[in-house]
Amino acid sequence: MKILIVGSGGREHALAWKLAQSPKVDRVFVAPGNSGCAGVGECVDIDVGNFRALVRWARERGVGLVLPGSEAYYAAGIVDAFQGTDIPVFGPRRAAAELESSKSFAKGLMRRHGIPSADYAQFEQFETAMRYLDSRTEGPLVVKADGLCAGKGVEVCRDLDQARRAVRRMMRDREFGDAGAKVVLEDLLRGQEVTILALTDGKTIAPLASSQDHKAAFDNDEGPNTGGMGAYSPAPILTEEILDEVVERILVPTVHAMNEEGRRFRGLLYAGLMLTDGGPKVLEYNVRFGDPETQPVLMRLQSDLFDLIEATVRGRLAEQTLEWREEAAACVVLASGGYPGRYEKGKVVSGLEKAEARPDTVVFHAGAKRNRQGQVVTDGGRVFGVASLGRDISAAVANAYRAVGDISFDGMRFRTDIGRKAL
Ligand code: AMP
Ligand code: GLY
Repeated sequence: MKILIVGSGGREHALAWKLAQSPKVDRVFVAPGNSGCAGVGECVDIDVGNFRALVRWARERGVGLVLPGSEAYYAAGIVDAFQGTDIPVFGPRRAAAELESSKSFAKGLMRRHGIPSADYAQFEQFETAMRYLDSRTEGPLVVKADGLCAGKGVEVCRDLDQARRAVRRMMRDREFGDAGAKVVLEDLLRGQEVTILALTDGKTIAPLASSQDHKAAFDNDEGPNTGGMGAYSPAPILTEEILDEVVERILVPTVHAMNEEGRRFRGLLYAGLMLTDGGPKVLEYNVRFGDPETQPVLMRLQSDLFDLIEATVRGRLAEQTLEWREEAAACVVLASGGYPGRYEKGKVVSGLEKAEARPDTVVFHAGAKRNRQGQVVTDGGRVFGVASLGRDISAAVANAYRAVGDISFDGMRFRTDIGRKAL
């Protein structure tokens, strides 16, 4: 079987790395991929935004399964584009991908179907949003741009003035373009965050091991939100009892609600949750594997990922079982200086071989490529995810940071407190 993964991040490297281990997979293509994907598969230089050309290429090469990584492809209809062909593709169609690409759709779905989440109001007019803020007496508030903003369209506001400024930047100044034409204003939830990734074929739901992301740029969760600066798995706070509650009150109702509204969801359902005093509540849905959560989660997965992906696509997930390693895993993201703001590219990386040679450690490449001289150079904001296993989270974290110490490039920056919350 030949597989085509679409994307170029650390998540795509992790998916390629795991799929390449399956005895049923002969070749893994990644379009466009990165320097890490090139080590486990073959990078394909093709315009991935042109789905027609992608379908043609996949057909010519005899690709047997397509696995898109990022939400942008799903929101643009990559699954719909392959639907008329005989090539199976993993993930939701565009209409179901609105669970991630439209916060107002997601909030409306949760309200209509009684799925626990923060109370909210949504606005399409700047003046009405401002009047609503004037009518509120006090309080922290979360301002969210409706559309896709690469994880940066959410601002947790201490007070109404900060909320007013955030609304102005999104709706008036169009900081995120059309993604900010609508905003959702929601109540602040307090508690611990966890991520549940779950495979679903629309009938069966198979939660993967729990994980916890670190979204803020700096230690102690300070600074602006990023795509994610590190992750670990499992999240010890998510006990079996809470997981049952999440499945029963959130995952099952979500999949049913999507079916009922004629938007059958197939693929990977990502539930970002806040564990509040009043039980788990949904912060956000994503419609694809998380980045960087996928890196530590897949390091712990013992089952064949190909079997799971194929069963999801074919509607036969009920036949699968998932096996996990006992060890924990941690992943530390190495970022370019300045990320998530402006940063430079093209910095030569040293020490990779030493880090990669460490036992139970994988350096997942993200914004990294090879230059003409064959050196690995930086090519994005998040450059690597250094992931290690360990007998528990503290050992996994220590192993990952040891490997981090091997690697350097000009401006390299990382959080030093990944996993601390779990200890
Ligand atoms: P989202 O993209 O919706 O997950 O938001 C990004 C981050 O903002 C989340 O991971 C939370 O840390 C925070 N956040 C979002 N919504 C809320 C909320 N209602 N209450 C508290 N924090 C939130
Ligand atoms: N790590 C957050 C995300 O994948 O959206």
